[in-house]
Amino acid sequence: MAKVIVGMIGLGVVGGGVVRLLSQERHLNLKKVAVRSLDKKREIVPSCELTTDVSAVIDDPEIEIIIEVMGGEQPALDYIRRAIEKRKHVVTANKEVLAKHGPELFKLARDHGVTIFFEASVAGGIPLISTIHKGLEANSISTVMGILNGTTNFILSQMEEKQVSFELALAEAQRLGFAEADPTNDVDGHDVAYKLSILSALAHGRFAQPESIYREGIRKITAEDIAQARDFGYRIKLVGMTCRLESGNGNSLSVRVHPMLVPLSHPLAAVSGSNNGIVVIGDAVGELTLVGPGAGQMPTASAIVGDTMNLASALMLPDFATYFNPEIECQWAAVSAAGQWRCPYYLRLLVADFPGVIGQIGSIFGTHNISISSIIQRGVQDKGASIVIVTQAVLNSEMDAALTDLEQRDFLIEVGNALRIFQPESTKNAQ
Ligand SMILES: NC(=O)c1ccc[n+]([C@@H]2O[C@H](COP(=O)([O-])OP(=O)(O)OC[C@H]3O[C@@H](n4cnc5c(N)ncnc54)[C@H](OP(=O)(O)O)[C@@H]3O)[C@@H](O)[C@H]2O)c1
Repeated sequence: MAKVIVGMIGLGVVGGGVVRLLSQERHLNLKKVAVRSLDKKREIVPSCELTTDVSAVIDDPEIEIIIEVMGGEQPALDYIRRAIEKRKHVVTANKEVLAKHGPELFKLARDHGVTIFFEASVAGGIPLISTIHKGLEANSISTVMGILNGTTNFILSQMEEKQVSFELALAEAQRLGFAEADPTNDVDGHDVAYKLSILSALAHGRFAQPESIYREGIRKITAEDIAQARDFGYRIKLVGMTCRLESGNGNSLSVRVHPMLVPLSHPLAAVSGSNNGIVVIGDAVGELTLVGPGAGQMPTASAIVGDTMNLASALMLPDFATYFNPEIECQWAAVSAAGQWRCPYYLRLLVADFPGVIGQIGSIFGTHNISISSIIQRGVQDKGASIVIVTQAVLNSEMDAALTDLEQRDFLIEVGNALRIFQPESTKNAQ
């Protein structure tokens, strides 16, 4: 097999790992790497040309594959567009660009007879994209869900193991390099929303616009919530899911990311530290769980170089771009509103400590069609009494209405938290 000539844009955490792996690859020749600055001190320096001129990489006629590992929306988007227009195949780890511009980029690639490989954009080292795209091709996939962000999983695991606050666990994640100085993208769920957009395209044929995805992060989770959840037999995880809805015309998706109480017996509850864990449900295969490192230099480089090797060996095949391009439509997916989902809830309320409060809460919930499975008073503090409630499955819009009603009552001091509870059976007949 002749050597395939490769160019790369970006030489940071992931790019460094890619250089390391490519140096052991006989059939791939890394010819040029573009960076922002030539003066930066680097741990890993490739033996090929380093340049700040991205066009020198994209326009090089010998280069057949461009690896984009610079990240961010712009100018990465323009570089990927230009590479495709030059008929280069693209391997990218860039979830933000794919989530925001996927429909346009995949159409552009099809029109130019090239492919985009993107294994590293979701779940780092776990071969999730190729598993859904090729390994599960015979299936109709109803649901892809799971823990898609290692930083938040690390923080939640620390909060439980060390019984510390969110702030302390975040500081520890930052100290160890698991969280960035500005953690917004991770802790507020943006990163997971980008990944869900991509997974929606792969599993259901259409990208979900990131703004249409319901998003709640983990900032409000307290050590008390984690301990209470555990007493009820659950562990709190930041869960992202994209499910095809059975109701309506079948084209609508439920795509959302928010913290959930996951039963301790479910495989996702056992995914700890910075790992990712994803459940895929297909009509033929049933339920499949993949667990592993969702980020990091070498796991992510493993996905990038694996894609590049696959691409390089496929370049000889006739019409291979058609075989490898996933069937993704140009339109964005229709995403259902949050109020339409049904699930049980965990609520932690702080209320004034006087007789009859529990009865009043029960009757407010009854008015909003909410059945309570369990209601427990967890001691009285100076500020009031802490009450923990677990409900039966309820429409999210009804829970919102009940919480609004509660907030108008004199006895309510605060709603400490309102979290959804994951029911494994609900993913099998998504609503
Ligand atoms: N880090 C992970 O664990 C991980 C996991 C999964 C996916 N990803 C994705 O992988 C991609 C890269 O992440 P990373 O962590 O490797 O990022 P990073 O460490 O910040 O590296 C970015 C690289 O891009 C270069 N760059 C930035 N702007 C440029 C420009 N305008 N022109 C040329 N080069 C430019 C930088 O050059 P200089 O070196 O000169 O500054 C740097 O080498 C992102 O899309 C990220 O979401 C990362």
